[in-house]
Amino acid sequence: MTTRQERVEELERAAHNLFNVPGPRVLIDLLTDSGTGAMSSEQWAGLQRGDESYAGSASWERFRESVRELFPFEHLIPTHQGRAAEKILFSALGGSGKTIPNNTHFDTTRANVEFTGAEALDLPIPEALVPSSRHPFKGNMDVEALRRVLAELDVPVVFVTLTNNSGGGQPVSMQNLRAVREACGDVPLFIDACRFAENAWFVKLREDGYADVPVPDIVREMASLADGMTMSAKKDPLGNIGGWLAMNDDALAEQSRNLLILTEGFPTYGGMAGRDMEAVAQGLREAIDEDYLRYRVRSTEYLGEALDRAGIPVVLPVGGHAVYIDARALLPHIPPLEYPGQALAVALYREGGIRSSEIGTVMFGRHPDGSEEPAAMDLVRLAIPRRTYTQSHVDYVIEVCEHVASHAAELRGLRIVEEPPALRHFTARFEPL
Ligand code: F0G
Repeated sequence: MTTRQERVEELERAAHNLFNVPGPRVLIDLLTDSGTGAMSSEQWAGLQRGDESYAGSASWERFRESVRELFPFEHLIPTHQGRAAEKILFSALGGSGKTIPNNTHFDTTRANVEFTGAEALDLPIPEALVPSSRHPFKGNMDVEALRRVLAELDVPVVFVTLTNNSGGGQPVSMQNLRAVREACGDVPLFIDACRFAENAWFVKLREDGYADVPVPDIVREMASLADGMTMSAKKDPLGNIGGWLAMNDDALAEQSRNLLILTEGFPTYGGMAGRDMEAVAQGLREAIDEDYLRYRVRSTEYLGEALDRAGIPVVLPVGGHAVYIDARALLPHIPPLEYPGQALAVALYREGGIRSSEIGTVMFGRHPDGSEEPAAMDLVRLAIPRRTYTQSHVDYVIEVCEHVASHAAELRGLRIVEEPPALRHFTARFEPL
C-alpha cells in the first residue's frame, strides 16, 4: 500500500512514465499480462525437472512435443521471448521496399519490421477502429484491402495477430483466417499466436459450427492455415519467459537458426533454460483447458461489464486478456497529441495505485520519418495477469476507475520532454500540462 502523496512523488521521479515506477510501489499491476501469470504446481514441478544439457536436453524434447501437439510446423526454433522470434524472422524476410501487413502490429512487431527498413501496415476491418461497435470478431483482417496490397506491393510475409492486442484483445474468426489464407496465394502467412487459446475460445463461443469442437482442434485448424508462427510464451502458454519461431520452409528455417545462434543460443534451447522449457510445455497443456478458458475470459468480461455499466467507455465486446478504456472518449477535452491515454493511466496510478498501459498516440504516434500524428485510437489497457488476482482485487479496480471517471473533466494532458528513436513509450519522459 502507498499513500496518494507517495504516488504523486513516485510519478515525479518516474517522469510520469509508469514503466519507471518500481513494482513494489504498485498495488494492482495491470501493466501487462505478459510473464505475469501465476504458475501452477505442475509447472513448478517442471522447473525442478529441468534438464540443463547444452544440446539436445530432455526438456527440449518435452517442449518440442508439447508445441507440436498444437502447432505441427516442420521447424521449431526456441527464443527467449516473442520479440526475439520477430527480430530473427524480419531480419531474414524484411528490408527496405518491402511491406508486411498484419491485422494490427503490436509495438515490438511494428518496431522489428521498421528496424529492417520495411513498412509495417495495419489492415484491420473498419469495425475494429470503432470502440463501441460490437462486432464479434473485431480482430479480423480486411481481406479486400489485403488483396490490393498483395497485388501492388512487395510483400514477403503476411501476419495475423491472434488475438489482436493493439485493437482491444479482439479475436480473429476461422472464416477470416481462411479468407486471408486464400488471398495470400503463394505468399507465406504467419500467425502471431501469443493469445491463441483465448482466440480459439472465442471461436468456440461465437463462430457457427465450432460450439462442439474441442479447443485443441480449433487451435490445430488455425495452425493448419498458416506457414509459420511467432510466439511469446509469456502470454497464453503461461510462462514467465520464453517464446518460439516455427515454420515449414526449410531454407528459411536454416537461415533463422543461423541468426538464432548469433544472439539467442543453440537451437535446442534458444534463449530459454531447460527449466523454462518445462514450464512452457506444461503451461501449453493448461492453456487449452476449457474450464480455465471459461474462467479466464469471463473474469476479464466481469471487469469490462462493470465499467460499461458505470458509463465508462470501453472497447466492446470485452477482449480476452484485457479491458481497454477509450480514453479519447472519456477525456474529449484532451487532444490526442496531449496523450489522453497517458493522462488516464497516470491518474489511475495516482488515485488508486493501479498500473495500466497506454495503447494510443504515445505508443504508435511517432513514425519512422520523425513525424507525429494521432494513433487510430487512444486506449488505456487494463491487462489481466493469468490466475493472479481475485475478484475483490478487481472490484477495487472498478471503484478506482469510477472515481477517476467522475473527475475526468479535471484531468490534463502531458507533453513529452525526452524520447528515444523507437518504442518511445517504454522510456519517454513526460511533463504534465
Ligand atoms: N506480439 C504480441 C501480439 C504481443 O502482445 C507481444 C507482447 C509480442 C508480440 C512480443 O512478445 O513481449 O515476449 O517479446 N506483448 C506484451 C504486452 C509485452 O504487454 O502486450 P514479447
